[in-house]
Amino acid sequence: MNLQRNFPLKNLNTFGIEAYANFFIELNNSDQIIEFLENSEYRNQPLLILGGGSNLLFANDFEGIVLKINNKGIVVVSEDEDFVIVKAFAGEVWLEFVDYCVEKNWGGIENLALIPGNVGSCPVQNIGAYGVEVKDTLFEIDAFRISDGQKRTFKNSECNFGYRNSIFKQELKNQYIIEAVSFKLRKKPILNRTYQALEREIQILGIENPTIKDLSEIICKIRREKLPDPEEIGNAGSFFKNPTINSENFKKLISEFPNIAYFKQSDGSFKLAAAWLIEQCRWKGSRFGDAGVHKNQALVLVNYGNAKGTEIVELAKNIQKSVLENFRVHIEMEVNIV
Ligand code: FAD
Ligand code: EPU
Repeated sequence: MNLQRNFPLKNLNTFGIEAYANFFIELNNSDQIIEFLENSEYRNQPLLILGGGSNLLFANDFEGIVLKINNKGIVVVSEDEDFVIVKAFAGEVWLEFVDYCVEKNWGGIENLALIPGNVGSCPVQNIGAYGVEVKDTLFEIDAFRISDGQKRTFKNSECNFGYRNSIFKQELKNQYIIEAVSFKLRKKPILNRTYQALEREIQILGIENPTIKDLSEIICKIRREKLPDPEEIGNAGSFFKNPTINSENFKKLISEFPNIAYFKQSDGSFKLAAAWLIEQCRWKGSRFGDAGVHKNQALVLVNYGNAKGTEIVELAKNIQKSVLENFRVHIEMEVNIV
């Protein structure tokens, strides 16, 4: 294990923000994670567990140890005629893991193709896209408690999963290092085509009986058209969550704004498209120095090159303020501010 001092983080966050960590260490296997946690001097410092850095924003340098979790491996835990339980270690790249499963025709995570980041982070905000969330197939999580290195397995039902939320973002925030995530996938896949934009694209392409490979390719195509590639322009995907409001408030809002973009939820509440709210407030495509709002997706804040984390945060707060003033709706940040 090699603890490095004053370590640059610019290449380790997809926003491309310049920031430094007092200390940085890469943990390449489970033994190294255990060894790190056995050292009380290390584990009692402020720690930042880092995966692919695609859902965080450095507003400051990190005064502690950044732990880059790099343990790799994919193993089949068990299988029968219908299902396979497959375990992927935290340092695996998520989109490569999805491709691996799609190639094997194991169904369930194909709609989550091309989401950046690592396997170890996918449960933290319960990643979701195109009608599917990771909680739908997540079987269990192996994790180490930071305070004493104790290993624990979390069943799906113990993770309090919600929309872009889990126990690891709430009560147990920064308390566990996720070592590996297991999924229960279908050997006879059932496709999820509920997301409108997806079904539209299937119709346009005229594919009659799409496979999970077709589906993942269509999703990659839609994503490439809509979302900026962090290799080209710094960003962390959606900066805000889509807000949910009750039916009473929704009725008032839609009578005032009949074109509002929304998705009715099964519990009777309404999820509003935050991108629509932000676009109506005329932020889409705006730029302040090197901080801006993407020209094709108003939910994505971008760094054109040398924006500071604090400038992105300031822009985000101004957007929140104007959405609140115009629509009486609070939009919560999705990205983790460090
Ligand atoms: P990081 O940014 O490194 O970390 C995120 C959080 O997880 C931090 O709090 C970190 O401390 C914690 N963490 C990381 N690893 C571990 C671990 N091993 N144990 C415990 N905690 C850990 N998200 C979606 O849900 N849907 C999308 O469609 C989507 N599209 C995106 C598109 C783009 C272009 C980008 C840039 C991002 C997008 N995201 C999306 C957000 C992002 O890809 C996900 O949140 C992803 O899971 C982050 O993974 P990461 O490894 O980069 O996490
Ligand atoms: N829209 C606008 N203006 C825009 C963009 C979109 O008005 O600039 C409206 C359109 O009416 C569109 C609706 O917003 O129909 C929804 O847009 P989109 O399908 O692009 O989805 P989203 O709600 O903006 C969410 C997730 C994405 C995920 C996509 C696909 C959140 C916060 N974001 O975006 O996740 O990939 O759906 O499922 O839930 C992420 O979390 O980082 C992320 C990218």
